[in-house]
Amino acid sequence: MSHADDHAGTGEGTRRDFLYYATAGAGAVATGAAVWPLINQMNPSADVQALASIMVDVSAVEPGTQLTVKWLGKPVFIRRRTQEEIDAARATGLDQLPDRGSENANKPGTDASDANRTLDEAGEWLVMMGVCTHLGCVPLGDGAGEFGGWFCPCHGSHYDTAGRIRKGPAPTNLPVPVAAFTDETTIKLG
Ligand code: FES
Repeated sequence: MSHADDHAGTGEGTRRDFLYYATAGAGAVATGAAVWPLINQMNPSADVQALASIMVDVSAVEPGTQLTVKWLGKPVFIRRRTQEEIDAARATGLDQLPDRGSENANKPGTDASDANRTLDEAGEWLVMMGVCTHLGCVPLGDGAGEFGGWFCPCHGSHYDTAGRIRKGPAPTNLPVPVAAFTDETTIKLG
């Protein structure tokens, strides 16, 4: 093989490499474009970050159902409880609760009795951060777990119908964020 041939061969090899990397690069860009909308949905919009509060229309939430909204990048559970759920939570004594604090930003320093957990006096509306207080997984709702409330499958934390920790490694009740009704069907978070 002459020196010239050798050189040409090397040049070809280099061009193939270049084409290969260019293709890989194009693939990476396409993947990035496909993934971005998902990631973007997980983040709060610039508006939300600036205002730090949002209005949630709860007019379509029937008793026994819940709405999950994203607020400041985290899920917030808004549940409209049935009378059975309210009764179960109110029949539970504080001595049965690992965390006896309400963990309610609207009622700081109060105990974890059910009336201190809900937004309204009747106890129909429960608003909580949907983040397990153990290591931050999103608990499953709609009557999940041994206490008919929420269940975190990551390490088995059971929350009752007031979102209070009852069993498992989570140390505290699901926190209630600053929230209030601004009219009959609108809840303001933050
Ligand atoms: S993160 Fe929920 S039990 Fe560990």
